[in-house]
Amino acid sequence: MFSAEHRPPQGQAGERIERLWARSMTASIVVLLGVIVFTSAHWGLHPPSRVETIDSTSLHKGGEFSEGNLGTSIAPDGSAVVRVVAQQYAFVPSCVLVPADVPITMRLASADVVHGFLIQGTNVNAMVVPGYVTTVRTTFAESGERLMPCHEFCGVGHQAMWAHVRIVDAKQFPSEDAKAKAVSCG
Ligand code: CUA
Repeated sequence: MFSAEHRPPQGQAGERIERLWARSMTASIVVLLGVIVFTSAHWGLHPPSRVETIDSTSLHKGGEFSEGNLGTSIAPDGSAVVRVVAQQYAFVPSCVLVPADVPITMRLASADVVHGFLIQGTNVNAMVVPGYVTTVRTTFAESGERLMPCHEFCGVGHQAMWAHVRIVDAKQFPSEDAKAKAVSCG
């Protein structure tokens, strides 16, 4: 089957090559783990380790993700909290209104299956898994309009699932209203 020069190495030569491969594989695993640890520490990346659970089947019945609570609220410390429900096939609210230059905590929950979301032109990009709350912290430096599509295949209507994020100057944002109740642009 093998010609003389293509026969696999036997005996000691074979063992030596096996050991060489085992060592180089171990070395690559160590290097990859090192890259993960380095980027996490150096770039402040947050691997999805923080687990906060929620009953996805009863979001509409009350609590943090009830309808009246969805949208943007201003917390007592002046930061903004955006609450969004992802469901087949829309985000609620479908237009998220946020102030520029204000620290923002986005909290998302899914009402049914796995969804994902990203905000174009930013590093906001996460999955929304039923049973868990997804939390992302960000600050938008400039005002403007950005798209927020679902990027996790969630069914036949997946490609039509997206929201707008409208970033307005902090002075134009209805902060007083948002201290009392969540606001949105649609
Ligand atoms: Cu939701 Cu794709």
